[in-house]
Amino acid sequence: MKFIRAAITSVGKFLPQRILTNKDLEDIIETSDEWIVQRTGIRSRHFLDPGMGNSYMASRAAMDCLNRAGVSPSEIDTIIIGTISADNVFPSTACTVQNMIGADNAWGFDLSAGCSGFLYALTTGAQYIESGRYKKVLVVGSDVNSMYLTPEDRSTYVLFGDGAGAVLLEPSVDPDLGIIDFANRIDGFGGPYLIVKAGGSKRPATLETVKNKEHFVYQDGRTVFKYAVKNMADMAVSMMERNNIESHDLDLFIPHQANLRIIEACARRMKIDLEKVIINIDKYANTTCGTIPLCFCDAVEEGRLKKGDKVIIASFGAGFTWGSIYIRWTMD
Ligand code: UT7
Repeated sequence: MKFIRAAITSVGKFLPQRILTNKDLEDIIETSDEWIVQRTGIRSRHFLDPGMGNSYMASRAAMDCLNRAGVSPSEIDTIIIGTISADNVFPSTACTVQNMIGADNAWGFDLSAGCSGFLYALTTGAQYIESGRYKKVLVVGSDVNSMYLTPEDRSTYVLFGDGAGAVLLEPSVDPDLGIIDFANRIDGFGGPYLIVKAGGSKRPATLETVKNKEHFVYQDGRTVFKYAVKNMADMAVSMMERNNIESHDLDLFIPHQANLRIIEACARRMKIDLEKVIINIDKYANTTCGTIPLCFCDAVEEGRLKKGDKVIIASFGAGFTWGSIYIRWTMD
């Protein structure tokens, strides 16, 4: 039987209008533009207005992606949304998005894997295409991280932003191009280091959890930093080695955008120049599941991706979760 390879055939994005610069944050919390830029590389972030919900951003990114491809929502077989900030505990944001965009023939689900949610969703969607069962899979990464932030914790308040990106997966016309290889990992030992402690079944919302501010993100930044550098770099380097990609052969590296210093450390381990790395953390901050599809979209818009390019992706997030994908780019 002929092997079917999955390919990204379109990209899309949505960013909320409201932009907060580091200077704006100086008026809200005790911080400085200098500290944020030096420690993280972040200069500004977008925040969604309260009450809009994840589906507002995810559906717009999805429609941007479909419009660029000239594909109607009713042609979509499957919608997978990588997210940690669904509209509701249930139903899934995928259901809401399906209804909002009119994807009449689709099924779908949300996928939760911390900041690796989009990467896991992309590898899952790719296998649905490879199985031959589905022809058009919409993969979205979308997060409203502002819901987890409080000005009372300056160590996390400055790090995150809201945003969404989407890609369309279809069978590749050229079997040598598309999603070539991937590897994903989890290690639950990391759970306590990056967590929203309440609001789930183990610790449902009570007056006490609200009073204790347990619905906001908690992060042990230094520990997460250490494991992010090691695991992302190890995975990206091993993805290059097992596909016989030398540093000079690699065209583009698309890392999860959590901290510029993590990205630079990964690039050093991969022995690649920063010119080969997509960096947009300065504009968007850490949009968790949004980072990688937003990078795809920016890379396409800036003309930094051409057909046949060898691209490595890597991510790391809460869980801990991490992974890497090797793609030969298919879009012109
Ligand atoms: O996407 C999911 C994965 N997440 C990550 O990969 C994030 C990984 N971690 C990080 O990126 C970094 O650890 C941070 C950016 C979160 C923090 O950077 P750091 O270099 O590890 O700083 P730190 O936490 O060790 O804090 C250094 C100092 C502290 O002051 P003292 O104790 O040295 O006096 C903090 O209180 O910086 C202080 N600080 C701040 N100062 C100004 C913490 N937050 C701020 C702030 N503005 N916003």
